[in-house]
Amino acid sequence: MIPIFTKKEAEQILNAEDSVEASLDLGLSKTKIDIEDGFAVIAGQKIPIDEFKKVKEGFFYVVEDSTLKKVAIFSDETNLYYKLLPTTDWPTITLSSVPMHRHIHMSPKRDTETKIKEISPVKGRVLDTCCGLGYTAIMAAKYADEVITFERDENVVGLCRLNPFSQEIFTNKKIKLTEGSIFEEISRFKSESFDRIIHDPPTFKVSPELYSDGFYEELYRVMKKGGILYHYAPSPGKTKGKAFYENMIKHLKAATDFEDIEYHERSSGIRATK
Ligand SMILES: C[S@@+](CC[C@H](N)C(=O)[O-])C[C@H]1O[C@@H](n2cnc3c(N)ncnc32)[C@H](O)[C@@H]1O
Repeated sequence: MIPIFTKKEAEQILNAEDSVEASLDLGLSKTKIDIEDGFAVIAGQKIPIDEFKKVKEGFFYVVEDSTLKKVAIFSDETNLYYKLLPTTDWPTITLSSVPMHRHIHMSPKRDTETKIKEISPVKGRVLDTCCGLGYTAIMAAKYADEVITFERDENVVGLCRLNPFSQEIFTNKKIKLTEGSIFEEISRFKSESFDRIIHDPPTFKVSPELYSDGFYEELYRVMKKGGILYHYAPSPGKTKGKAFYENMIKHLKAATDFEDIEYHERSSGIRATK
């Protein structure tokens, strides 16, 4: 695992004399960091102590060429700014400031738990349409036999590699991550091949095709009879959010025969059964 840290660990290093026990994996474990002649030694690299004075709140940092580098990148290709953002527990990711998990009124971990609860009991084969940081896939894999997930953006997969809480998407044998678009890939699945579907797309503005009638038809086709769908409904503002999920329900009803279609405020999403 690549060492990763925040201002908290930087301050521990700045306040240390000869050595300090600090976490370089967001609290999962602790590592002894030696301080030698004005340098902190991390993963065999000597970083000048002054580097740690530059560390700001609201960012994660990794070590590169004996300097500290923010975990944030701009891609010319997608025209998006990607940032791993510290929260009270698991990091979230922002794509040009739009967070991919709820993280203000509830933490990303709690956000994931509420989504997984919607498809309980989680069992059999699960389709997690949009991997993101892999939290829904990883939590579903605790109970399911297999989780199939997709991520179309290589920059997001790159951030997963740095995030200690995303590692299972690469190591858990029950999880099959494909780097590609679910919009194109869904047609390769046989009808009635999933017991549960988690559809957690970005906003409509970013990925309108993932809210289209054609895509909803495909979600219905690949779901087994008795299966449960959870579809996250981004709510930009309370009034706008209501109009938005009502429209999503209208489209799900028009395009599919999903039943018991209901919006649940606790998970900010729609649950439906086949
Ligand atoms: C809201 S996040 C998913 C969060 C995820 N459930 C988690 O637990 O971290 C949406 C993700 O979908 C990805 N995405 C957007 N369009 C996609 C597509 N057509 N196929 C697969 N992934 C897509 C985005 O890059 C983003 O990482």
